[in-house]
Amino acid sequence: MATSERAGVPTVSAEQSLWLEEEPGASWPALERDQRVDVVVVGGGITGVTTALLLKRGGASVALLEAARVASGVTGCTTAKVSALQSTVYSAIAGRHGAEGAAAYADASRAGVERVAALAAEEGIECDLQRRPAFTYAAADNDLKSIEREADAARAAGLDVVMTDEVELPYRVAGAARLDDQLEFHPVRYARGLAAAVDGDGSIVAEQTRALAVQEGSPCRVRTPGATITAEHVVIASHYPLLDRGVFFARLESQRSYCIAARARGPLPQAMSISAGEVTRSIRSYGDLLIVGGEGHITGASKATAERYETLERFARAHWDVEAVTHRWSAQDPVPYDHLPMIGRYTPRSSRLYVASGFMKWGLSGGTMAAILLNDLIAGRANRWAAHFNPNRLSVRSAPKLAQLNAKVGLELIGDRLRPAQANSPADVPTGQARVVRDRLGKTGVYRDPDGTLHAVSLRCTHLGCLLRFNTAERSWDCPCHGSRFDADGTVLEGPATKALERRHPIDRE
Ligand SMILES: Cc1cc2nc3c(=O)[nH]c(=O)nc-3n(C[C@H](O)[C@H](O)[C@H](O)COP(=O)(O)OP(=O)(O)OC[C@H]3O[C@@H](n4cnc5c(N)ncnc54)[C@H](O)[C@@H]3O)c2cc1C
Ligand code: FES
Repeated sequence: MATSERAGVPTVSAEQSLWLEEEPGASWPALERDQRVDVVVVGGGITGVTTALLLKRGGASVALLEAARVASGVTGCTTAKVSALQSTVYSAIAGRHGAEGAAAYADASRAGVERVAALAAEEGIECDLQRRPAFTYAAADNDLKSIEREADAARAAGLDVVMTDEVELPYRVAGAARLDDQLEFHPVRYARGLAAAVDGDGSIVAEQTRALAVQEGSPCRVRTPGATITAEHVVIASHYPLLDRGVFFARLESQRSYCIAARARGPLPQAMSISAGEVTRSIRSYGDLLIVGGEGHITGASKATAERYETLERFARAHWDVEAVTHRWSAQDPVPYDHLPMIGRYTPRSSRLYVASGFMKWGLSGGTMAAILLNDLIAGRANRWAAHFNPNRLSVRSAPKLAQLNAKVGLELIGDRLRPAQANSPADVPTGQARVVRDRLGKTGVYRDPDGTLHAVSLRCTHLGCLLRFNTAERSWDCPCHGSRFDADGTVLEGPATKALERRHPIDRE
């Protein structure tokens, strides 16, 4: 944990999520022997654990496989608001899918919120869950129209949203949409509490167990490093779909956002709020900590990633009496081209393989509603949201956005070939920084760590070949095309890429 001084006040740059700082408590062993269960769920975030628990409650035996630790993915890196009011999502959905699409999303989101409250109570999970009002506010007068439109769209979709100009924030807002009785909680304690309820009575949770290959059939087979598991059904809840067979990468755009937590003197907001308009600020408190999120951008498309934390910190200090910034974290979430999540059968021909993704940074309610929907599909029950969230839907109104997404990838592929090298040799790379070096193998990304050790990798993304960019906040190589991320040594941090970057030897070329 690095500490620096700013205006006489110690400032911690922990680059670690507030929710992941405590010891995880219960842990589950990796899968080491072949087994057969009714359903394998791949991914131990909120989507996977909730799906697994609902399946188990329905009488199925379940294996929940998590590559790292339960809730260590995006679920552990959120602002942790569970709300059916979500920025200006209803006007966006109504514009693309009509009133019916917006009503289905509102109904499902409300069900997701209420299911979180019910599961926490039924399983006795101590996760600091609180009922809070949620606000979407206009920071400037010219954003007010979009808030009024959102309030109208949310009401038409069935939510009890009202307009107000009273928001519990220490600065003026032009107006806000308000929805009462939403939730905030500690997401990691919640997800781990659900995982504890999954384990046992013929069902298992396996951490440090990465699914390496999935074969749909009768039965389905999931290969992991230690064992193969067979099942009637497989659910892929790996955040970004881990298999390329549904061409999800062409329909999802990964967007990254940043959060800080700060200890502040004086009263903290007891409501959850988010601004609409060009600059997003997502605000809540947790005990004596203020949490501020925002500064989003398309993954791999921003050069000044580290400065984004400083911008959030400046905002917090401008409006609250901040004593110290205690945590900083960032994460990304896939946004579908047509603005509805993708939940259902993996491909049009799948009858045993399912997926849930594309939660647009609202996956705490979204992952929970996905679990409800997937349980219905696997049990053969009708579900009123299924057609709206079908991953294989075609959305004619959103075709231009789809074309734009894929044209952007084409441009990245061509444009990157013209991008100049940033250093002549690895010797020119300063400590703690990264540079693109052109050598006889093509473009090499060279990072010099704080100890002076050089790490060199090929800059061609192993997914489809776009050129990677360095993320100065996370010290990772990020792909602007579909959001894959790699550490300085080339290991995959996030997909759709599954293969590590080719390592190179910087010293040879100095
Ligand atoms: C900065 C930020 C703030 C956010 N704030 C909010 C908020 O306030 N409210 C809200 O509702 N949403 C919020 N979101 C969105 C929300 O956090 C996500 O949509 C949600 O957590 C996604 O959950 P998940 O279970 O689908 O994914 P994850 O939590 O990422 O879980 C997927 C898991 O799958 C595992 N995995 C991946 N590949 C494999 C494999 N091959 N084998 C086994 N396991 C694998 C990963 O290790 C990971 O643990 C925010 C997102 C960001 C980026
Ligand atoms: S993630 Fe698709 S090319 Fe990099």
